Amino acid sequence: MNNHFKLNHAAEYDEELLHVAIIMDGNGRWAQQRGKPRFWGHRQGAETAKKIIEAAPKYGISTLTLYAFSSDNWKRPRQEVSMLMQLLQSKLQTEVRTSIENGVRISFIGRRDRLDSRLVAQMEKAEADTSFGQNLHLRLAIDYSARDAMLKAAQLAANEEDLTREKFSEYLAQAMNCSEISPDVDLLIRTGGEQRLSDFLLWECAYAELYFTNVMWPDFNEEELARAVETFHSRERRFGAVPQARVSVV
Ligand code: IPE
Ligand code: IPE
Ligand code: MG
Repeated sequence: MNNHFKLNHAAEYDEELLHVAIIMDGNGRWAQQRGKPRFWGHRQGAETAKKIIEAAPKYGISTLTLYAFSSDNWKRPRQEVSMLMQLLQSKLQTEVRTSIENGVRISFIGRRDRLDSRLVAQMEKAEADTSFGQNLHLRLAIDYSARDAMLKAAQLAANEEDLTREKFSEYLAQAMNCSEISPDVDLLIRTGGEQRLSDFLLWECAYAELYFTNVMWPDFNEEELARAVETFHSRERRFGAVPQARVSVV
């Protein structure tokens, strides 16, 4: 632990619970910088994900959405895709028990029709087995594209007469094969140095605070998470309004 950085836990913030979404980027470069194959980075990245999931509730996070595989990631070399899918399968096998013990409820968002049927069966079982978890709602985005989800939601909503944001969110959940509406994202973190959204949660991030770090995902840790949450709490969210304290100036 870095001595210069004091960890602030949720209890120190008088705030409501957070939805944090993470674009876990930089695995491949992290490995290549070490002269290893890209897959080495994905394996290490899975370890980081495990640690961040465990730490999340301490920082006031009640919903954590992790971008594990984008619909555009199918464009990668076939071998990398198949190794990523195998990694997902093997992690699901071992981590469901830990999730039950830690009160973590797992859901998946994204298309399921292009995934291996064994993986889909595992995902459904993980959702059922962890459905009573109360400490953290972990949402894993697999074969996920925000634009495809919005397109599908728009198709589903085509005959709706009074389409509201809330109703659209319901269609969006349906489009993502998810049984419940996603809360708005409070804080979006992207590791790996790129400053873009790469088709992740475009509707849900309307007022999200964005936090970009050069740290590669395999090097991300609890201290980095604490720093991101602390930065979030130092920002003023205005949602288009004028904060009460400044109203008199008008
Ligand atoms: C993110 O790391 C993980 C996935 C997309 C599955 P990358 O594989 O994109 O790593 P970089 O960006 O090439 O370093
Ligand atoms: C976004 O990262 C997807 C995941 C982290 C799963 P990418 O590495 O695929 O995004 P781009 O290609 O840099 O935009
Ligand atoms: Mg990348």
